[in-house]
Amino acid sequence: MPDSLMRPPASPQFPHKITVDNSPVHIPPGPLRSSTLVKAGLPKLYDPGYATTAAYTSSITYIDGLRGVLRHRGYPIADLVKTVSYDQVSYLLLFGELPTQRALFKWNKRLSIPDLPQSVARVITAFDTDSHPMPVLMAALSALGAAQPHLNPSIVGTSVYAKNDARMEAITLALGLFPTIIAGIHRHLTGESPAFVATHSAPLSYTEKFLFLMNARPANTKLANALDKILTLHADHEQNCSTATVRQLSSSGVDLFSSLSGGVAALYGPLHGGACEGVLKMLNRIKTVDRVSSFLQGVKRREEKLMGFGHRVYKNYDPRAQIVRRIAYEVFALVGKKDPLIDVATRLEQEALADDYFVQRKLYPNIDFYSGLIYRAMGIEPQFYPMLFALGRASGWVAHWYEFLDDPDRRIARPHQRYVGEIGPRKVTRIEERDDMPTAKL
Ligand code: SDX
Repeated sequence: MPDSLMRPPASPQFPHKITVDNSPVHIPPGPLRSSTLVKAGLPKLYDPGYATTAAYTSSITYIDGLRGVLRHRGYPIADLVKTVSYDQVSYLLLFGELPTQRALFKWNKRLSIPDLPQSVARVITAFDTDSHPMPVLMAALSALGAAQPHLNPSIVGTSVYAKNDARMEAITLALGLFPTIIAGIHRHLTGESPAFVATHSAPLSYTEKFLFLMNARPANTKLANALDKILTLHADHEQNCSTATVRQLSSSGVDLFSSLSGGVAALYGPLHGGACEGVLKMLNRIKTVDRVSSFLQGVKRREEKLMGFGHRVYKNYDPRAQIVRRIAYEVFALVGKKDPLIDVATRLEQEALADDYFVQRKLYPNIDFYSGLIYRAMGIEPQFYPMLFALGRASGWVAHWYEFLDDPDRRIARPHQRYVGEIGPRKVTRIEERDDMPTAKL
C-alpha cells in the first residue's frame, strides 16, 4: 500500500505569509484557527453546514473521502469487519486498542446489565404501537438518564465527569442497555409483550443478546454474524451530524443520556440515519427494474432524491457500501430467497453511476443504500432501520463523548451567525397604531 495511504497527509503547512493590509499575520503552530484570522482583522468565516470547518479534534476515526478510506484507530474498516466482532470494535473506539480475550470478557461482563429501570420500560410502553421507533428511543434514553441522578451534572455538579468511574458507569449503562431498550421498543411496537429482562443460559455475543431480546429465542448464528458486521459498519464515522450533535449537546455540560437522546434525534433525519428507511420506501415505490430510468429522470428534474446516494465526505465510493452489498447477498443465501428489490437497487446503482448528472456531482451509494435490504431479509420492518443504525452508532457516540471530556479546546458550542435582518433600532408602536400590512405573513 503506498506510503501516502499508510498515514493521513501531514496537515498542510499553511503559507507562512498570510498578509492582511500588507502586514504579515503570525500563524502559531498547530491547526489554522479562525480566531487567528479574525484577530488579524479578517471577517468571521461563514460556513453553512460546517462544509469546510473542523469543529473538533479526534483520534478515533480517519476518513479520506477522495480515496474512499475509513479507518478506526488506524484499522481499515474492511479488516475490522472481516476479523473482529462488534463488541471488540466498541472497545477499540473507546479505549484506542483492540481488546485481549481477557479484556473483552471483562468488557462484555460490564455491558451485561440484566434489568432495565421500570421507569424506562413504562416510558416505552406509554407510546402508541403505531409510533415511529426513534421518538420512543429518544424518550427511553432520557428516562434512563433521569433514573441516574448521581450521574447527572445538572444535579450533582459538573465535576461528576472528572471521575473516570462516573464516566464509565454512564457509558456501560448506556451501551449495556441499548440492546435491551431497542429490542423492547421493537417488541412493544410490534405488539409483542416487551420482555425487558434477558434470561438466557449460554453466553451470547452483544449482537446475539440483542437478537435474543428482540425475538425471545436464540438467533441463527450466521444471521447474528451478518448483523454483527452491519453494526461494526455503523459504529462510527467521525463528525457526522449525529456524533457532532452529541458533542455539541455535551459541551453545555448536560449528561451523557440527554446527549445520546439528541444524537438519536439527529440520526432520525431522512438525510442521515433515516435514509436507510427512505431507501426501502423509494425501492418499493419504483417496484420494478423497468421503472428505474423514469425514476432517475425525476431525480434529475429534482422531483425526487436518490436515497442512499451521496455523501458530504465521500466523493468516491463509501467503502462501507461495497461491504454491505456483499453481506446482503450472504444474507439472501442464508434466508434462501433473493429480494426482488435487490435487482431494482442494483439497476439504480448501475444507471446512476453511468449517468453524467450523478457522476459530475460525485454521487455514489452510501452505507444506507443496501443496509435496509439486509434488515428486510431478516424480517424487520423499515421503520426500525434507523434504530438499528443507532444500535451500531452508540459505540461511536460514547467514544466521542468520552474523548471530548478531556479535550483542552473543549468549550460550550455557540456559533456566530450572518445577520441579514433590520439593524434598527426601530420604534415600537402600540397595536392599535398598526395597520394590516398587505404582505402580512400570517
Ligand atoms: C449517512 O456524515 C456522515 O458520515 C453520515 C453517515 C454516517 O455514517 O454517519 O455516512 C450516514 O447519513 C449517509 C447519508 C445518508 N443520506 C442519504 O442517502 C440521503 C440522500 N443524500 C443526500 O441528501 C445528500 O447526498 C447528503 C445529505 C448525504 C449530503 O448532502 P450535501 O453534502 O449537503 O450535498 P448537497 O446537498 O450539497 O448536494 C450536492 C449536489 C446538489 O446538486 P446541485 O444543487 O449542486 O445541482 O448533489 C445533489 C444536490 O442536489 N445531490 C443529490 C443527492 N445528494 C446530493 N441529488 C439527488 N439525490 C441525492 N441523494
